[in-house]
Amino acid sequence: MINKKDMVINYLLKHRGIDFSGCCHSMVEHQLEQRMNTTGTRTAPEYYEYLQSHPEELDSLIDSLTINASGFFRDPLVFSYLSSKIFPKLISEKAMSGNPLRIWSAGCAAGEEPYSVAIEISKLMKNVAAGFTVNIIATDINAGTVDKARAGRYTPERLSNIRFEYLKHFTQRGNTFSLKRNIKQQVNFSRYDLLDEKSYCPPESVYGGFDVVLCRNVLIYYNTRYRNRIFIKLHRSLNENGYLVMGETETPTKRFQNCFKKVNECCHIFKKITP
Ligand SMILES: C[S@@+](CC[C@H](N)C(=O)[O-])C[C@H]1O[C@@H](n2cnc3c(N)ncnc32)[C@H](O)[C@@H]1O
Repeated sequence: MINKKDMVINYLLKHRGIDFSGCCHSMVEHQLEQRMNTTGTRTAPEYYEYLQSHPEELDSLIDSLTINASGFFRDPLVFSYLSSKIFPKLISEKAMSGNPLRIWSAGCAAGEEPYSVAIEISKLMKNVAAGFTVNIIATDINAGTVDKARAGRYTPERLSNIRFEYLKHFTQRGNTFSLKRNIKQQVNFSRYDLLDEKSYCPPESVYGGFDVVLCRNVLIYYNTRYRNRIFIKLHRSLNENGYLVMGETETPTKRFQNCFKKVNECCHIFKKITP
C-alpha cells in the first residue's frame, strides 16, 4: 500500500514534474517533519491534505527538499586549485584554438558557485587577447532559487569565505551585498532538472561540450540509481579531458569510476578519461 510520504512525493511529480523519489529517505522524512511543524499539521495524512488545499505550500516544500545551502568560495581549496592550475591552462589552450572556454555549474543554488567561478575567471582574463570568450552556464531545479541567483543579492553569511580583495565586486547596503553588473552578466542562469531524461545538457548551453562541470553537494541527496542517471548526463556533457568538480564528500559512482581520474589528492576534482 502506498504511504502518505510517497503520496506527497507523487503529488510533487504530478504538479511540478519534479521527481524526489530517489532522494535519501532520511532527508525527505526530516524535511517533511519540518514542513509539518511550520504548517501546524501533526501527521503525514494531515500534511497531505494541507498541501492539497494550500497550493502555495508546494513552493515551500520544494524549497525545503532542495536544500539550497551554499556560499561564495565554498571549499576555498577547490577554488584556489581551479584558479591556479586548471583555469590558466584551459584559458591558454582555448585562446590558442580560438574556441570559447565552457563551464557549467549544475545545481547552482542562489548563484554563489558560478559567481565565484566568474570572479576567478575575470581576474585571469586580464592578460588574454580580446575576442576570447568564456561561457558560464548555471542551472538549478528550483525556479525560485534561480531568480535569487539572477538578482545576485546576498547576506554576509554567504560571503564568509571570500577574500578581502574580492569584496570590490559587491556594493553593500546595510546587511545586503549586491554583486556588480560586470560579474553578474558573465553567468547565464536557467532552471534545469538534472534528472530530466529528455536532454543530456541544459537547452541554454545548446550542445554541452563543457571543459569544466561543477556538480557539488547535489548527488549526496540521491540514491545510487539516481546518482547514475545524473552521472550519465555529467559525463556526456563534458569534453574529453574535461574536469568534473564534486563536493567534499562526493566521488563518481562505481559505474563511472573508470571514466574519471582524480587530479589531486587535496580536492575532489576529476578529469574525464577514456577507459
Ligand atoms: C546544497 S545545494 C549546493 C549548491 C552548490 N553547488 C554548492 O555546493 O554550494 C544543492 C542544490 O542542488 C539543487 N538540486 C537538487 N536536485 C537537483 C536536480 N535534480 N537538478 C538540478 N538541481 C538540483 C538544489 O535545488 C540546490 O540548490
